[in-house]
Amino acid sequence: MAKKVILLVASMSGTAEMVAEEVSEADVFEDGDMDVQVVSLDKVSIDIFNENVIFLYCSSTYGTGELPDSAQAFYQSLISQSPDLSNVRYGVIGLGDKKYADSFCGGPKLLDSQMQSLGAQRIGELCEISASSGKYPEETALEWFEEWLEEL
Ligand SMILES: Cc1cc2nc3c(=O)[nH]c(=O)nc-3n(C[C@H](O)[C@H](O)[C@H](O)COP(=O)(O)O)c2cc1C
Repeated sequence: MAKKVILLVASMSGTAEMVAEEVSEADVFEDGDMDVQVVSLDKVSIDIFNENVIFLYCSSTYGTGELPDSAQAFYQSLISQSPDLSNVRYGVIGLGDKKYADSFCGGPKLLDSQMQSLGAQRIGELCEISASSGKYPEETALEWFEEWLEEL
């Protein structure tokens, strides 16, 4: 099993941040079986992918299927610098709202397709969380996370 997960967070009004904090308190981390770090995408550069860890995006969606402001520079660097990410493994927790039927979870989907086009390997399916699902987003994320761990 991998030793460490870095949660890469992009949030506008705090929900994705809260979800990431909850995931970082999951049993696997509390028990010390794995290390975890939560970072905001506007505080790191794409050099972070030089670290030999598993990455887990936790991002919401704004505009019309776009990324939060805090993810823009990071995302643009991925496009302009086009690093070889063939050694990188990652997962995606995406937040959005199914009311935006045509652009549901569009922000995290942008990150996902950019990572794939750079050769990175996604672990598991995207976790797509809708704000209007009637369920707590952190609950959906934690359920998904437990299954995701099995795939590492
Ligand atoms: C102005 C605005 C635009 C949004 N646009 C989309 C969108 O295009 N697609 C989507 O799935 N969700 C959209 N959402 C929903 C948010 O992604 C969702 O509420 C999310 O939980 C917010 O997370 P955050 O607090 O971490 O930013 C939008 C929300 C707002 C307020």
